[in-house]
Amino acid sequence: MTLLDKFKKMPSIDVNRLPVHIAIIPDGNGRWATRRGMPRSAGHREGANTMKRIVRLANEIGIKYITFYAFSTENWKRPESEVNYLMSLLKEFLQNADRELAGSNIKLQVIGDLSRLSDELQEEIHRVTENTSGNTGLNLIFALNYGGRDELIQAIRKIVKDAREGRINPEDIDEKTVSERLYTGGVPDPELLIRTSGELRLSNFLLWQTAYTEFWYTKKLWPDFSKKDFLEAIRVYQQRNRRFGGI
Ligand code: IPE
Ligand code: IPE
Ligand code: MG
Repeated sequence: MTLLDKFKKMPSIDVNRLPVHIAIIPDGNGRWATRRGMPRSAGHREGANTMKRIVRLANEIGIKYITFYAFSTENWKRPESEVNYLMSLLKEFLQNADRELAGSNIKLQVIGDLSRLSDELQEEIHRVTENTSGNTGLNLIFALNYGGRDELIQAIRKIVKDAREGRINPEDIDEKTVSERLYTGGVPDPELLIRTSGELRLSNFLLWQTAYTEFWYTKKLWPDFSKKDFLEAIRVYQQRNRRFGGI
């Protein structure tokens, strides 16, 4: 069965013109659970399963980078029990990563300020990123304790330090100077951003990197987001006319 046969009933996409990097704000886990009379944690668990399905599909069709907004710098405002549950889900994924990612050639990367995460979690992250660092398939990027403003602040600190210590000349500071010092240094900007649950905002995600990103939204809640929806987002993206300020 060819890739095309497999996706016959799916939105048709041009595999030769795929976005290199897709960023996702997987929103609506809590509402999904509440609507079913279940605790919010059940929505997060289901959301983690959706994430795994989409990762497998992205890897299969040949996407090079996918970034998931897993935990924002603002998400600490949630009840401690919910924060702990989200962290435990993440730990579970990492602990099973050898199995989850086995044979998939996926490389795990993490962006954000990891220093606030538990030592145990940091160790797991370190272990899995090390173990998969040689992989050449999909780059799976988790944004953890990530905030676009926090990222810019730490980049500015690095630039000021480099300037003060004579490594860069303030006159020479350009877009590359900034890009290189972001958590995403070396990762191309996303061409496509997907947000579920009908919210139309960035919520402090990839502020710098989304300057020219195409947005695609759906009212579907993240646990209900399907492979078909993912391919539909790519199909719509492929029909967009990206002008970058030109005509
Ligand atoms: C997104 O779902 C998951 C994370 C923030 C980790 P939410 O938990 O924000 O779900 P809603 O928006 O409250 O429904
Ligand atoms: C954005 O969702 C963050 C993640 C998905 C991790 P939120 O649910 O936290 O965003 P707001 O609060 O609705 O803007
Ligand atoms: Mg939300």
